Amino acid sequence: MIREIKNNHLYFDGCDTVKLAEKYGTPLYVLSYTDILNKIGEVKKSFLDRHENTRAAYAAKAFCTLAMLKIVEKEGLCLDVVSGGELYTAIQAGFPAERIEFNGNNKQPAELEMAIDYGIGRLIIDGLQELKLIESICAKKQKKAKVLYRITPGVMSDTHEYITTGKKDSKFGIPLDEAILYPAVKAAIESEWVDFLGIHFHVGSQIFDNAYHLSAVDVALDIMKEIRRRFDFTIQELNYGGGFGIQYTGADERQSYAYFMDPIMEKTERFCAAEGFKRPAIVIEPGRSIVGEGGMTLYTVGSIKEIPGVRKYVNVDGGMTDNIRVGLYQAKYEGMLANKASEKAVDKVSIAGKCCESTDILIQDIEIPESQAGDIFAVFSTGAYGYSMANNYNKALIPAVVLVKEGRDALIVKRQSYEQLIQNEQMPDLIEG
Ligand code: LLP
Repeated sequence: MIREIKNNHLYFDGCDTVKLAEKYGTPLYVLSYTDILNKIGEVKKSFLDRHENTRAAYAAKAFCTLAMLKIVEKEGLCLDVVSGGELYTAIQAGFPAERIEFNGNNKQPAELEMAIDYGIGRLIIDGLQELKLIESICAKKQKKAKVLYRITPGVMSDTHEYITTGKKDSKFGIPLDEAILYPAVKAAIESEWVDFLGIHFHVGSQIFDNAYHLSAVDVALDIMKEIRRRFDFTIQELNYGGGFGIQYTGADERQSYAYFMDPIMEKTERFCAAEGFKRPAIVIEPGRSIVGEGGMTLYTVGSIKEIPGVRKYVNVDGGMTDNIRVGLYQAKYEGMLANKASEKAVDKVSIAGKCCESTDILIQDIEIPESQAGDIFAVFSTGAYGYSMANNYNKALIPAVVLVKEGRDALIVKRQSYEQLIQNEQMPDLIEG
């Protein structure tokens, strides 16, 4: 078990979390190497190893640090980046260029230049405008780029509105309107500066039902057929995005990769056989499902406020600055007092952060043992979109990240310092003079 209880303490991947909090301070992100390897192992066993000509590109946005990208690289996955910053991190981590794919609805010329200079494997582009920009950069550099079009499949997924991306009214992807999609495809096919490889979609995030991916697969397959009919051109690659849901609370039922990929592959194979296509390469882009459950955040309890008959707030030393998902998406989390892990829950409380913002609540209503200042509170499943969305609101410091594996621990991101907090600030003459 990655999470276990020994001597009244919560252990994570063999490490006593109370000791970790003591050693590194709090708030602290802890990441289980074993859990990440297990999740990657599942992707391999149930998808990559079972089907030839498939790839999985870890979506770096979920958690992007040098150490994480090194793990992904060592495990043989590809990488999906969405910004110059993520690409820079990948380059610094020594991630092989040909295994990187670049998504994003408004990639900047400088980001595209960086990607083309590095020779990255795929540019996943959102339309004709971006194609033109890429062509001009490629012409300047006398280099060819491999591109896919991201389409908006017009699928509404059953997840929080803010993290659904596949519906028609979306800033992502090229709309399916004939007069927009096919001229763009034609231009890409005819371009002397790009190799047009295929179609990409992403239906949304934290999805538990495979119906949304399956509907979008139908859309992509039909487009593949239509492209052959119109242009006598066969695409070589379909990228079905990420979005596979994870368990945050007991209400979430994580589905296996096989639950999503088996019917998706079957549908794709069947369509290709029926229509006389060689099945294109199939790519997925899991982010959260690789790294989410393998993370937890440790906090120290400070002041406790009881409003008789109303609520008890247990305040911790972090909050929306290290986990903005609660305020942003009403995300639900579970957790426990790590230093009282076997004690009976006797108190219903809310775990609140320390930011000057009423919505800065990490967990609304949770039963925990009698708590006091100095206790360590652990919030589970924070590995994805926690550190990567951390911010300096209230000039809070971005916490450290520790990687743990079978009882060993290693710091992979140092805690930010006050000096770093103001290192880019300047006092201009306008004020001083
Ligand atoms: N591929 C593309 C093109 C994406 O836009 C995303 C996520 C992924 C892959 C990875 O999706 P995943 O497997 O992680 O669900 N900040 C939000 C999530 C935003 C996801 C945006 N795109 C959250 O904290 O829930």
